[in-house]
Amino acid sequence: MMQHIQNLETPAILVRQDILTQNMQKYQSECDKYGKKLWPMVKTHKASAFCKMQQEIGADGFLCGTLDECEALCEKGFQNIMYAYPAAGTISCSRIAKLASKCNFYVRLDSIESAGMLDEAAARFNANTAAADGTGSPDVSAPVTISYTLIIDCGLHRFGIAPENAAVFADQLKQFEHLRFAGISTHSGHVYGEADPDKIAIYAQDEQNALHTAAAVLEKAGYEIQLVTTGATPTFRYAVADPCINIYHPGNYVFHDAIQIGNRTATEEECALSVYATVIAHPAGDLFICDAGAKCLGLDQGAHGNASVKGYGYVIGHPELTVCGLSEEVGKLHVDGITDLKIGDRIRIIPNHACSSANLTDYYIMVNEQDQVTEWIPVDIRGNKTRKI
Ligand SMILES: Cc1ncc(COP(=O)(O)O)c(C=O)c1O
Repeated sequence: MMQHIQNLETPAILVRQDILTQNMQKYQSECDKYGKKLWPMVKTHKASAFCKMQQEIGADGFLCGTLDECEALCEKGFQNIMYAYPAAGTISCSRIAKLASKCNFYVRLDSIESAGMLDEAAARFNANTAAADGTGSPDVSAPVTISYTLIIDCGLHRFGIAPENAAVFADQLKQFEHLRFAGISTHSGHVYGEADPDKIAIYAQDEQNALHTAAAVLEKAGYEIQLVTTGATPTFRYAVADPCINIYHPGNYVFHDAIQIGNRTATEEECALSVYATVIAHPAGDLFICDAGAKCLGLDQGAHGNASVKGYGYVIGHPELTVCGLSEEVGKLHVDGITDLKIGDRIRIIPNHACSSANLTDYYIMVNEQDQVTEWIPVDIRGNKTRKI
């Protein structure tokens, strides 16, 4: 017999199986409609079982936020893997060289320094492989070459080169014999700083314009651009039809959250993940305390400075409640008006940022529409869990 969530210990991270599947299908079918590939960002859920679901629904590859995620996916047999951020340092670059020898791997670049380190790592990898071979010279039939996309800055001002400088920068990278130009990537993360939902389309236009400009200068300089990649959940619906872009990387779309409700990318009914909590105290007329705190909900109030969300999460079915404060293990619920809440009640809170909550649990408790537990899914590709040295 299936367990009902009433019998679960709290706090617990619940994921509605049906909503998760619908979200995955919705974004995949948009990509299919326009002949685009979906390579979801996996840092949102960090669960290989969800990658498998995404792949079964049609995802063609994955974008990872950490090298741990890249390695875990590669070990599990996923083939098309891209690392989202630039790398530096011997250890990371050596890990990348190894990944490039094992799967169809792409890294992203925006500096000569990082390119140089990656090039050296590939040379080292080839030399070591040849030495291990006993031949003493690099295996010229199959040396590792690291494929990269150039990061183009479309307004987030975190990584990336200005679109109009793409060809000049690509020319500079030609000196690195173990690197291969594969295309261009961007991310319109600055959309999360926008408080007005009616202005989201502007950020999609930013990512499209940046990629168009970069592609034009590169093509003019004779580059063959294999991959033109971008993605963020709020801008996806505006950018998906762009003829220049061929791969999309939304991540949060699988769960959605209070930030996506706030910017009108999703409705409450499209939020798959919630924190299940018990009301444990009632210290004042307008104040309750629940057993979910910052260690479940996260302290996010918007990824890039957008404080348009109210409090630290959205309590389902209780518009009169605001999660007004979080300690590590408990949360404060402020009552505005009348409530029927009492000690012992169970509540479900949609976190502001589902990706942060997901990173704070070791497993998802999958539930159906009748609030019965169907499965426990491990968060098995999160980094920082394995001792590597
Ligand atoms: C480079 C990059 N691409 C894609 C994403 C996915 O964005 P979202 O979670 O808005 O879908 C992220 C998320 O932070 C990112 O950093």
